[in-house]
Amino acid sequence: MNVSVSPTRLKKIIAIGFISFLLIFSTIYYITILNETHSKSNSSNDDDSDSIILSPLTLTPKGIRLTFIYNYNDSIVISWYTEKNATEPKLSYSMSADLSSATEITPNSTQLTSSTYIYYAELVNLSPNTTYHYQVRSDNITKREIMNFTTLANRDISNISFLVYGDSRTQRLERRTLVEKIMASFRNNFEFIVHTGDIVEIGTEQNEWNEYFDDTEALTAYKQGVYVEGNHEGGLSTKMYNNLLMYGTDTERYYYFNYGGVGFIILNSNDYTVGDDDQTNWLNQTLIQLSQENTFNFVFLHHPLLHTSRSSDYHQEHWKPLFDKYNVSLILCGHNHHYERSYPMINSSKLDDYDNSEQYNYTNLNDSIYIVTGGAGAPLYSVYNYDFIAEKEEAYHFILVDVKKEIAKMTISLESWGMPNDFGPLYLIDNITITKLT
Ligand SMILES: [Fe+2]
Repeated sequence: MNVSVSPTRLKKIIAIGFISFLLIFSTIYYITILNETHSKSNSSNDDDSDSIILSPLTLTPKGIRLTFIYNYNDSIVISWYTEKNATEPKLSYSMSADLSSATEITPNSTQLTSSTYIYYAELVNLSPNTTYHYQVRSDNITKREIMNFTTLANRDISNISFLVYGDSRTQRLERRTLVEKIMASFRNNFEFIVHTGDIVEIGTEQNEWNEYFDDTEALTAYKQGVYVEGNHEGGLSTKMYNNLLMYGTDTERYYYFNYGGVGFIILNSNDYTVGDDDQTNWLNQTLIQLSQENTFNFVFLHHPLLHTSRSSDYHQEHWKPLFDKYNVSLILCGHNHHYERSYPMINSSKLDDYDNSEQYNYTNLNDSIYIVTGGAGAPLYSVYNYDFIAEKEEAYHFILVDVKKEIAKMTISLESWGMPNDFGPLYLIDNITITKLT
């Protein structure tokens, strides 16, 4: 039987055959590449078979952060993590920059996930107001560069200074860039940091904590930190207290310390659904004591109590009257992702004396000023237009607070510094002083 094929039909057959060949070839090639990627991942990640990690896990110490847990001027906790288990983790520290005559300690360690091992080194019996150099390592080969910190002083007549920021979750480039700018411009202008909460977006995800301390290590490895719990930290199920060994524990998440004539009160504003009377009673007793001991007292909590829809009725009803009664000078909050400073407030109202005032220098002020600082990396919010607001800015930012003791008077100086969206030079948003005669 003769079969004849027309030239046109023959061209079609050849074209279809060629296209089919290309499709089969590209499918085989894709499957081969995919299998190679899987096998590489699994061979470098034997202890984490549930996930695909393209970069190999490492023993390198990462995410180094400082906290104080006992006495701020003679002890410090240095924490870090590795992705693989370090069998010989060590920390060496010395007053010498080259670590000569260093003290070596073995940290406590805990495995938090299949690829996160965390280490806590507690340094005690340190000298106040002294710079120490330190180095952490996983073994004799895998180590980090030498870093340093300065213990806080026994302050009677001199300045104290600290940095406040909050809501650093979500946007890694913004929070990393802000920290770089802080350290480039103000490294020697503050002694410690206070974070007003929402450090990470999902507090139960260990990877978020690792990323946060990776991004901000240029700050957290050199300045000891005080961390307020935000709603994003996740409450009792949080990994916050595994990552931040400090005063509070997962059952006692509020505390205070006095430093240089100032009381620092750290509150947890997350627990209010079933009442919060234990913390409220503690706050009342603490304010009775600290109002006798200090010229100024500051309160730090996550939720902004002047914003009725952004904080709990319980805390507005029970905590604001205590701040009024005991003349708390500054209440520093987060939760709203911008900067905001209120006029001096009492009984939840702006005082008539300050109505439409351009005044930024207050003397013998007994009334409370509420600050919102929630611009360390979370997506920014538009500012509000409530009449209690004296100054506001939609910007990534941080606050520097300096408290100066002089003969017969004591002065708070607060500066808010912003970072433009294009990451240009920092600019001054706000600057106030509060002076009290002593
Ligand atoms: Fe929040």
